[in-house]
Order: sequence, then structure tokens, then C-alpha cells
Amino acid sequence: KKAPPGVICIFGITGDLSKKKLVPALYALYVRGYLAENFKIIGFARRDWSDEFTRQYFKEALMGHPFFNDRDADEFLAALFYHRSSFDDPEGYAALRKKLSFGGDIIYYLATPPASYSTIIENLGESGLCNLEGHNIRIVIEKPFGSDLETARGLNSLLLRYFKEEQIYRIDHYLGKETVQNILALRFGNSIFEPIWNSKYIDHIQITVAEKIGVGSRINYYEKSGALRDMVQNHILQLLSLVTMEVPTSFESDAIRNEKVKILKNLVPIKQAEVSHKVIRAQYVGGYLDGGYVKGYREEEGVKIDSTTETYVALKAEIASWRWAGVPIYIRTGKRLSRKLSEVAVFFKPVPETSLWFGRPSPAPNALIMQIQPDEGISLLTNVKSPGYSMELIKHPLNFKYEHSFGDELPEAYERLLLDALTADPVLYTRADELEALWAYITGIREAWDIVSPPVYSYLPGSAGPIMARKLPAEEGRRWRRL
Ligand code: BG6
Repeated sequence: KKAPPGVICIFGITGDLSKKKLVPALYALYVRGYLAENFKIIGFARRDWSDEFTRQYFKEALMGHPFFNDRDADEFLAALFYHRSSFDDPEGYAALRKKLSFGGDIIYYLATPPASYSTIIENLGESGLCNLEGHNIRIVIEKPFGSDLETARGLNSLLLRYFKEEQIYRIDHYLGKETVQNILALRFGNSIFEPIWNSKYIDHIQITVAEKIGVGSRINYYEKSGALRDMVQNHILQLLSLVTMEVPTSFESDAIRNEKVKILKNLVPIKQAEVSHKVIRAQYVGGYLDGGYVKGYREEEGVKIDSTTETYVALKAEIASWRWAGVPIYIRTGKRLSRKLSEVAVFFKPVPETSLWFGRPSPAPNALIMQIQPDEGISLLTNVKSPGYSMELIKHPLNFKYEHSFGDELPEAYERLLLDALTADPVLYTRADELEALWAYITGIREAWDIVSPPVYSYLPGSAGPIMARKLPAEEGRRWRRL
């Protein structure tokens, strides 16, 4: 598929996301030949920049790009224009209209801080830019999409005042990752997994999204968000739904999203009385990491000294369905942990305790590990006979590594996602009802926290998280995978 002629109008072109992700992804699509010849990019922002300055700024930003070369970069950037306006000035939108008057599709991309979303949507709506004769129009919205169920609903209804659902693309960059899409390929493109993909054979599932970095320069956002909203509400619950959904009737966007929504609606809400028990929250304290001192979360500038914002959260999720009854899904995510790792681990039931293994250690349970990043790959942990004269078993992984099998670097998530938005394919974007189901689960936990105020535990930078988080699987006789 190739993007049809048109224009992408990026609100917030002067921000970090445009520099680090959006423009580089568009450049990769350009170099690979996925953009129509007369495709244009318009950057909408407040700063006093010119077309020339913007092109120069992005040329420097592209210099580290794996596909960078002078000629391609200049040709690509010749199609980039800057439009200066504040987001709440109707005249800025009227002037934009003139620049959009050539043919083709129009994609509005909201890459601004979320506080500006409603202003931009209203102005696009009221100026008629959401409804221009002869153009197919779509709008892409970055996360965070609301901060709880109510605000997400409010944003959805504002969007739906001016756009139809099929024009609205709510982004979750995890869905653009090659390895995340491979979860569906693995489950439904092979016949051996589906028959055992249920509570009869699966003991439990672990989802880990660990980071080594701290909160960095995003304190203002993060202080209000915390790990539960920042990572679980979107990326982790998306992983959970892909791993546990029923077989969709096709790979069409609605067939897949219908199944995801069913899972999300069947997540067992975590009640006030159990929140301290089923959800563990924590913050990193100051300490030494890779030989240097790193500040604790509460020491970071802009963080309140008594902040309860969690930089780590672990929880036990359950799905009320026949397939998943009694199969806990342990989730954990945090900043300043020992390493960067995103993975889904599906643990199978152990072999039965029979006299076959009497007097020997029973074999370790099998597990299927889907490593999302880094070292993208899949491994199936099996037991094999250790060579020698006796029947000793050792754990051995059957491995598939992207790097070994395919060599090349994997495409960036934003490349695939932008191409999908440009070609009007919403399969990897979040639908309104899906988004609300995600928020319903998270908002339940947040509200319980507000009432119960469970402890905020602490953990050292470079560790595997707070000690208390071990308790979640441990009290059911299980253990987290080593981080
Ligand atoms: C973002 C979060 O959505 O995902 C960040 O806001 C986080 O806090 C990032 O660092 C992680 O993404 P990735 O692709 O590096 O796993």
C-alpha cells in the first residue's frame, strides 16, 4: 500500500514528538517510496519559525537517521511548510484552509500537549476544516487520550461532534511495533497454540514493561499521570487484549477491535476492598545506577515532596470468561528498573506429579516468551535431556530472534502507524468503545486508590522493583520472571 496524494498537518510540529518520531517516520516512508509525489507536510505551531528555518531544523534532526543522505533529505523537506498560529485563533485556521486547497486527503495530527486538544478540535470543527468538499479527512490523536473515563468520554464526544468514528485515529504506539503485531500472527497463523490457549493448559501470564530511564523532562505530565495511566491504561492492556482475545473472524479492523473490546469489558474490576492487595504501587528513591548517583522521584524538580505518583505499578488482572477463568495475569511496569524489557510470558501448567518423576526434581513448566523489545523474538522454554548416562532434564529455550532470521533493523512503530493513517486503515488504532473500556478498568483502580490511599512503596534504581511486588505472584505459589 502507498499513501495517496494529500497533506498531513501536524499540530505541535515544534515539539519533541515531531522531532524524534513523526518527521523521521515520514522521512523513512518517503525514502522507501510510500509517499505520493506531491505529498505535503504542514507544521502548525505558535513559535516564530519560517519554512526555511523549519526545514533546516529538521534536516539537522534527520542527520542521525539510518536513511539520511543530503539529496533525499532536501527533496523530502521541500514538501514541508510551516504555519504559524496560536491554536485558539480562528484566523489561523482560515489561513490554513487556503494552504489545504489543493487536492487529496487531509490528515490532522495532534502532537501537542493534551491541554490543547479540545481547542484544536473545536477550531477545526467551527472553521469547517473537518468537512472540506472533495477531501477525505482524518484526525490522529496522541496519548494521553483523557485522564480518566469521564474526560476520555468528553473528548470522544467532542470529536464525534465534528468527525465520524471512522475518521478518528487514536494512537497507541505499541500497536505499531512489529513484535506486538506478531502476537496475532503467532496465535492465529499456527495451529498448535490455539487448542492449548486456555485455562486448562495455561497456568498464568506475566506482562512486563520495564524501563531503565527515569521520568526525565516530562515531570509536569508524569506527576499528574503516574505509571498506571502512562503505561497500563494503554500499552499493557493492549498487549493483554491481543494475547487473550478470541479468534477474530478476519484481520479487518472492526473484527479485531470487537474481540479486543470483549476482553477489556470482561476484565474483573478491582474493588476498593482488594486494591491494596491486588495492586502494588511504588516510587524509585535516589541511589547509584551504572556508577553515578540518580535522584529519587521525589527529589526531581517539580515533584511534590509528598507526591504519591507511582513510578512503578504491579497488579493482578483477571478475565471473567470460560477461556480464562482462574488464570491470573500479572502485570508490572516501572521506571528506573534494572533494564529495558517489554515481554509477555505465557506459563503452561506443569507436568503432573506422578511416579515418573519420583525422586527427581519435576521438570520446569513450559513457557512461551514473546519478547517485544529489545532483542525482539520468541522463545519456548522446554525441558530436554541433559547429555549423559542418566535421565537428567535441563531447561532449554527454542529460540526465534528477529535479528538472526531477518537481519535488518525492524521498522519504527510510527512508520507503520503513520502509513496506516495515511492509507485510512484503522486496524492498529483504538476505537472509542475500546478506549472507554480501557479507562473504565483503570479509573476503577484510581478511584479506589483515592479512597483507600494504599502505601506507596519504594525501590532502588537499578532493582527489579519494590520487594512487596513479589507478594503478588508469591502468595499464589508463583514467581516473577527475573528482570
Ligand atoms: C510512552 C510513555 O507512551 O511509552 C513513556 O509515555 C514511556 O513514559 C514510553 O517511556 C515507552 O515506550 P517504548 O516504545 O520505549 O517502550
